[in-house]
Amino acid sequence: MSPKTKSKPVSRAALAGEADPRLVALSVSIQDDGALYAEDIRGSQAHVTMLAEQGIVPKAAARRIVAALDQVRAEFAAGKIRLDPALEDVHTHVERRLGELVGADAGYLHAGRSRNDQVALDERLFIVAACDRCDAALGRLQRALVARGREHERTILPGYTHLQRAQPVSLAHHLLAHVEAFARDRDRLADVRRRAAVSPLGSGALAGTTLPIDREATARALGLAGVTQNSLDAVSDRDSAIELLFACALAAVHLSRVGEEIVLWTTKEFGFMSLADAFATGSSLMPQKKNPDVGELARGRAGRAIGDLVALLAIVKSLPLSYNRDMQEDKRPLIGGPDALVLTADAVAGAIETATFHADRMEEALGSGEALATDAAEYLVERGVPFREAHEAVGKAAAFSSAAGRPLAKLTAEEWSRFHPAFQKDVLRCFDARKSLARRELPGAPGPKQVARQLARWEKALAKESR
Ligand code: ARG
Repeated sequence: MSPKTKSKPVSRAALAGEADPRLVALSVSIQDDGALYAEDIRGSQAHVTMLAEQGIVPKAAARRIVAALDQVRAEFAAGKIRLDPALEDVHTHVERRLGELVGADAGYLHAGRSRNDQVALDERLFIVAACDRCDAALGRLQRALVARGREHERTILPGYTHLQRAQPVSLAHHLLAHVEAFARDRDRLADVRRRAAVSPLGSGALAGTTLPIDREATARALGLAGVTQNSLDAVSDRDSAIELLFACALAAVHLSRVGEEIVLWTTKEFGFMSLADAFATGSSLMPQKKNPDVGELARGRAGRAIGDLVALLAIVKSLPLSYNRDMQEDKRPLIGGPDALVLTADAVAGAIETATFHADRMEEALGSGEALATDAAEYLVERGVPFREAHEAVGKAAAFSSAAGRPLAKLTAEEWSRFHPAFQKDVLRCFDARKSLARRELPGAPGPKQVARQLARWEKALAKESR
């Protein structure tokens, strides 16, 4: 083309004149979908290679296109691609640059394809990789939690309900509770990945193509497990993006709960934990402050993750089949969401790895027997007393102990016998938190043998991953 004639964006080839700048400003998406350049180029290379194999385009042209696309990828990576709002999106930017590099041959690439199936493919490739990045980050976090749990098998603290001291657990058991939640997140990500790893290429704009393309071949070349089964659905479907954002939002919510515990536990009031200086922040005003911003940001980021999910659901809601331009708005939440999760998980993992846990303060918080009142009730149940009757008797003892200003563990056997005749001298043995824990050895319980078994199970499972 002569340098004097201004080239028209492909999307305007059949339209008169140039687009109004106000429309251009609204339509442009390169600032967001530019992040998909690598996926876009991978998809194009697989597509044009298949076109050549099928005899649809000349083999030499396909080879030139594949090589030039390598160069376009490198230029994108180096930030050397000239951005032009009139070109709208990543697909047209790649194609324009390809045209500059190989001339008219570039025109062979888009046969049998539309930007609609192209963007659907780019997103699926992005989602597959994002699932892997999120999974790896959650794995690193799990490893941090398990390692600290191993160190603190013998550290005991009150478990809480209603944020009130309830019953003793080990710190290892507490940390492993979070490991379980992140395991479910990872399982969900694996599920998302499996459903995403299917090729929509060949669905065209909405109704496929008359050209004899080989959909399975491109899917195979891209490492995808198969091809989508309905062309209308394939270009309309953003389920994998939504599912990924749901998995990220729930993982972020789990991270926010860890974050909240970091905030609580590092207060003077709790004093269960101190952050390493490298994971704490100071105040610009108050020199004595050591702030747990890492935990607060983990809480705050969850708000954004939930917002991303809701945004995408709302964008897709009520859209008629098949592709609608509304769907372009999916880019910002989809592209930003997973990496925000990775950042948060890594920072929280670092905070956990380097924190100091204060076993003395935790044990102190167990108080003098209050957390073991249930054990005293179960003592009676073991001696044939109906649980409700036992509960009432121990309730009275607790009321007496608080009125008398003497902790439950300090009541005498004679005093216990006043609250129920079945209380014998040996009731005093209930008030040892470690012995209480040792009696809780059913599967899933916080007894030391169970916890050791769980630690070993997680260590083995996580060691298998080489990330
Ligand atoms: N940038 C567009 C998007 O992400 C690509 C698809 C455009 N298709 C179209 N028919 N205008 O939605």
